[in-house]
Amino acid sequence: MRIVVLGDLHFYQLAIWPWQLFSKRLLGQANLWLNRRRHFKPSLWPSVRDQVLVRAPDALLCSGDFTTTALPGEFRTASTAWAGLVEKLKPCAGAFVVPGNHDRYTFASARKHLFEAAFGQWTSREWPTQRMLGDRTHLIGLDPTRPNPFNASGHLGDEQLSKLRTCLQEVPVGHRILILCHYPIGTPEGLSDEEAGHGLQDTTALIKALAASGRPITYIHGHIHWPWKWTPPSAPNVIAINAGAPMLISNRYPQGQGFLEIEIPDESGEAEYSRQEPDGEGGWQNASP
Ligand SMILES: [Fe+2]
Ligand SMILES: [Fe+2]
Repeated sequence: MRIVVLGDLHFYQLAIWPWQLFSKRLLGQANLWLNRRRHFKPSLWPSVRDQVLVRAPDALLCSGDFTTTALPGEFRTASTAWAGLVEKLKPCAGAFVVPGNHDRYTFASARKHLFEAAFGQWTSREWPTQRMLGDRTHLIGLDPTRPNPFNASGHLGDEQLSKLRTCLQEVPVGHRILILCHYPIGTPEGLSDEEAGHGLQDTTALIKALAASGRPITYIHGHIHWPWKWTPPSAPNVIAINAGAPMLISNRYPQGQGFLEIEIPDESGEAEYSRQEPDGEGGWQNASP
C-alpha cells in the first residue's frame, strides 16, 4: 500500500474586505502581503497534483494548514484543489485530512466550522478519530488546533489524550499505527527548538502516551515548514515525520519541498519512507524523507 502525505499547502487570498480584518487576520494578512506570498507559490500546485497522480497512491492524507488566514475564499480554493485531486485518484483510494492552526485562524472561522464545511467528507468532527487504511493499518487523526488571538500554539487536552491512549490500546497486536496531527512532537537534533507560542502545549503528555503504548507508531505532521524524519529519544518506538510544504520555495527547495510517501508492505515488514521532490528541471526525483 502506498500512502502519499501532503503537508502545509497554505492557499491564500490577498484581496479581502476591510471588515474581514477585525481579528488576528489583520496580522496574518500583513505577514502575507509583506512576506509569505514571496515564498508560497500556489502556481506550483498543478505540478504537485500531477505528480501525486503519477504516484497513484492507495491513500492520500494532508496534515493541515490548507489555508493562510481561514478566509472563505481560501477554503474554496483549497477544497476545489483537493477535491479535483481526490476525484482523479484510483477509485478505491482513501483520503483523509486534519486541520492546521491556520484553518482555525480566527474565532469566527472556527465558530462557523469553515474547515468542516470545506473538507467534511474527508475529515471528522470527533477527535481522536480512526480510519482503516487497508486491513491492518490504523490511521488515528488528532486535532489540537483552536483559534488563538496571541500565538500559533495548539492543545490536545486531557480528554483527547485519554481517548488516544484507549485507541492505542485497542489496536490489535501486529497491526500498524499511523497518527496524523498538524503539530510536531519536537524537532530533530541540529534544528532549533520550536518557540513555546508556536508548538503543542501538551507535547510532553502526548509523547508519554505514545511511548507508554510500546507499539511502533508513525507520527505524521506538518506545521514547521521543513521535511524531516527522526525518533524522539523519549519515545524510541515512534518515527516522527514532517511532510514539508509542497508550495514553499527556498534556496534549498527552489521548486517547493515536495511530498511524503510511505510504502507499507502487505504483510509484516518495515514500512519505507521517501519524498518526491522537484528536481529543478521540470521533473521529480526520489529523496530521503
Ligand atoms: Fe503552516
Ligand atoms: Fe501550522
